[in-house]
Amino acid sequence: MVCIRQATMDDLLAMQACNLMCLPENYQMKYYFYHILSWPQLLFVAEDYGGKIVGYVLAKMEEESSEPCHGHITSLAVLRTHRKLGLATKLMTAAQNAMEGVFGAEYVSLHVRRSNRAAFNLYASTLGYKIHDVEAKYYADGEDAYDMRKQLKGRLIHQQIAHHHHHHHGAGGCCSSETKTASASSGVNPSSLEGKGSSSES
Ligand SMILES: CC(C)(COP(=O)(O)OP(=O)(O)OC[C@H]1O[C@@H](n2cnc3c(N)ncnc32)[C@H](O)[C@@H]1OP(=O)(O)O)[C@@H](O)C(=O)NCCC(=O)NCCS
Repeated sequence: MVCIRQATMDDLLAMQACNLMCLPENYQMKYYFYHILSWPQLLFVAEDYGGKIVGYVLAKMEEESSEPCHGHITSLAVLRTHRKLGLATKLMTAAQNAMEGVFGAEYVSLHVRRSNRAAFNLYASTLGYKIHDVEAKYYADGEDAYDMRKQLKGRLIHQQIAHHHHHHHGAGGCCSSETKTASASSGVNPSSLEGKGSSSES
């Protein structure tokens, strides 16, 4: 049995280890911290019965005010031993639901290598993402990326959930002043954490 649950601080090292085993796009630990401190609702892990982390999704909200409120999948991987069991589908669905329900995301975006057939099928066939654009030589080794997007229900779902809970605690939209104030007062400059060394996002 494998369970999907929200990640905690204690999972970050295992998530990083899983990323190193599965993908050439790797991140410094501060980038994992940046995600979990900013959008704790958007990180999920797949944990096997022995407590081992066998998959993760690392996601965030994009907060430039020039674009509609949307989420972004930074990284997704499932260990080779646990593939084709539907775990990636479940991790992605959990992150997408939280983007929609907690932050009111209008859509979710991601990058995938042109040659990554498994991931492309997952996104296009199973999850309903569409190719939005092609970014030439996006990856460090010169491979192109598909910029893919999936439409979400955005504000509609967000308002229903906020109404259901009666108050807005924990339901601050990425575009709401609540979240902006929180990040402004944290003393952390998000842009200084965006640097990922030589790697690109997956
Ligand atoms: C891509 C990845 C996350 C998929 O994880 P997974 O848990 O095996 O995926 P799922 O079991 O949820 O598969 C869902 C769908 O994805 C597609 N898919 C998954 N593996 C596939 C493969 N090897 N070949 C073709 N399609 C595949 C299929 O459409 C599948 O649906 P189906 O089972 O009905 O055929 C996993 O292969 C992985 O970690 N790869 C290395 C890291 C990576 O590429 N991450 C994504 C970067 S953008």
